[in-house]
Amino acid sequence: VQPDAAWREEVRRLVETHDAVLLAHNYQLPEIQDIADHTGDSLALSRIAASSSASTIVFCGVHFMAETAKILSPDKRVLIPDARAGCSLADSITGEQLRAWKAEHPGAVVVSYVNTTAEVKAETDICCTSSNAVDVVASIPADREVLFCPDQFLGAHVRRVTGRDNLHVWAGECHVHAGINGPELADRAAANPDADLFIHPECGCATSALYLAGEGAVPAEKVKILSTGDMLTAARSTNARSVLVATEVGMLHQLRKAAPEIDFQAVNDRASCRYMKMITPAALLRCLRDEADEVFVDADTAARARGAVQRMIEIGQ
Ligand code: 13P
Ligand code: SF4
Repeated sequence: VQPDAAWREEVRRLVETHDAVLLAHNYQLPEIQDIADHTGDSLALSRIAASSSASTIVFCGVHFMAETAKILSPDKRVLIPDARAGCSLADSITGEQLRAWKAEHPGAVVVSYVNTTAEVKAETDICCTSSNAVDVVASIPADREVLFCPDQFLGAHVRRVTGRDNLHVWAGECHVHAGINGPELADRAAANPDADLFIHPECGCATSALYLAGEGAVPAEKVKILSTGDMLTAARSTNARSVLVATEVGMLHQLRKAAPEIDFQAVNDRASCRYMKMITPAALLRCLRDEADEVFVDADTAARARGAVQRMIEIGQ
C-alpha cells in the first residue's frame, strides 16, 4: 500500500463513514501524522480522546495509549491499526510487581507514567505523562512518600526538579530513549556549539545534559528537558537556528513542520521505536476496512484505573 492520493481519500472516507476521530502520536510515520485529525503527545491525545464527540476513536500509537482512551471513554469504540504495537517501558512493571512494591511502602502515593498497562493503572493513585509529571508530584503533600513508576530517567528528572527525597523510583526504561546516551549527546553538542538541546526526560542522556550545563560545556539556557508536545511549543519560540533533538526520530516531522527555518537533527538517528512504526499505511487501511483491532479493557480494571487517568488529564491544564 502506497500512501498516495487514493490511499488518503479512502482513509478519510472510511473515517467519516465510521463517525471516527483519527489520532496520531508524534512518533508515528509522517504519512500517518499527516492524515490524522489530531497529532500530539500522550497527554494532549488523552485529553482529545476524552472530550471527542466521535463514536469511534482510531488510535495511531501504541497499545497503552489506545487502552487509556478506552478507560476514559468506555462507551466509545476504540480501534488500533495493530494491537501488537506494545511498549518496552510499559512492559517494565506488572500489576503484581506494583502490588508487591506498594506492600513494602504502606501509605505511599503511587504515581504511574501513562506508559503502563491498564492493570498497573488500576493500582495507581495518579497517572502522569512527561509533560505534567512534575506538576502531578508537586500536587502531593510533601510529607507523603511517593512511588514513581516505571521510568527511572523521568523519575530522576522529577526528583531533581521537585527536590523530593521521599520519591522512590522504579528501575524501568524505554529501550529507545535509554539508548540515547550521554557520550553521544556530549559529542553532538560539542560539534554544534550554537544548537539548542531538546531532550525528552525518558532519555538516558537527560542527566548528562544537565551535567554538561553544570560543567559549563553547554550554556544552561540551551538545555531543555521537554515532552514531545512541549518541544513543539519551544520550537516556535526559540531564537536558535539549529536544534539537537534527543527523542524518538518520528518527532522530527512535526518539529520541521512547526519551524521550517530551524535545522533539527536527531542526537541518535537510530532512535526509532519499532512499535510505533508498526502502524503502517496498510495497517491503518485494514483497520478502517475491517474495523479491527478493537481495544477492550476489562470493566472492573477500567473502573479502578479511571480515577488515576482522570486526575492526570486535569493536572497541568
Ligand atoms: P510524550 O508524548 O508524552 O512525550 O511521550 C513519549 C513517549 O515515549 C510515548 O511513548
Ligand atoms: Fe514505549 Fe519507548 Fe516506544 Fe515510547 S518510544 S512507545 S516509551 S518503547
